[in-house]
Amino acid sequence: MYSTVASGPALTVPDLHDRKRRAEKIVSITSYDASLAARSDEAGVDFVLVGDSLGMVVQGHSSTLPVTMDQMVYHSACVARGLRRALLVADLPFMSFRDPAIALTNAARLLGEGGVAMVKLEGAGWVCEVIDALTRHEVPVCAHLGLTPQSVHRLGGYRVQGKGNVAAERLKADALAVQDAGADMLVLECVPAALAADITRSLRIPTIGIGAGVDCDGQILVVHDLLGMTSGKRPRFTRDFLAGTNSVVGAIAAYAAAVRSGEFPAAEHSY
Ligand code: KIV
Repeated sequence: MYSTVASGPALTVPDLHDRKRRAEKIVSITSYDASLAARSDEAGVDFVLVGDSLGMVVQGHSSTLPVTMDQMVYHSACVARGLRRALLVADLPFMSFRDPAIALTNAARLLGEGGVAMVKLEGAGWVCEVIDALTRHEVPVCAHLGLTPQSVHRLGGYRVQGKGNVAAERLKADALAVQDAGADMLVLECVPAALAADITRSLRIPTIGIGAGVDCDGQILVVHDLLGMTSGKRPRFTRDFLAGTNSVVGAIAAYAAAVRSGEFPAAEHSY
C-alpha cells in the first residue's frame, strides 16, 4: 500500500532536510514543460520549480502578476509527467493565497491536479498565517523572501533587498518567522551574500539562493538564464552553462556539478 509508484519522484521533503544536516548542496532549476523537466531530471537536479516566472520567460509579460492558477496547474501537470526522481514544487501565483481558505483550495489543486509535492509562496507577515494553515493541512511549503517579484510595484523594481542593518534585521526576522510558521524550505532571492549566510546558519530548514551567494544550502536558477536564452541584459547572478557544453543535459549537469562543488555562484554572481 505504501510502495512508491515507479515513475513518481523519488526525492522527498525529508530528503531535502537531510541534505542540509549533511551539508550537501541542493540543486534546483525551474521548468515549465515535460521535455525540459525530463532533461533536468536526467541531469540530476534535486527539485524542479514550476515558477510563476513562466509569466515572463514563457508568456512574455514584464512581470509575474498576470499568471493564473489554471496556468500553474497546467504547467505543473506537464512538468510532473517529465519527472522520475526530482521533487516537484510549484508557485502559488499572485493573489492565489490571499487568505488561508483560498490558499488551501489552490494548494489542493496544485497537489491533486498538478502533481506537486510542495507549494512556494512569497512573503512573511500575514503570509505566516497562510503557511501555518497549509502546513497544518499537510501541504509542505517553501517560503520566498528577499526580492519577491509579486511585490514588484511596491518594491519599485527588481532590486537587491536586505541592504543595510535595518533591512537585514527585518529580513532575518521574517526568515525565522516563516520557519516558525511551518515552512520546510526558504528561497532567498537577491540578498547580500553575507546576510544569506547568516540566515542559513540561523535556520533549521534549507535555504535556496538565487543571487544570494554561495553559502545557501542550495541554489536555483531559471532554466532560460542557465541556457543563455534570456533576452536583454543577463542578471548578474546567472551564468550561461550551455556555453562550453554541447547539450542541454550537459549544461544542466554542469550547473549541478558547479553548485555541488561550491564553484557556483562565485563572487561575481553575488551581491
Ligand atoms: O518564479 C520563479 O521562477 C522563482 C524562482 C526565481 C525562485 O520564484
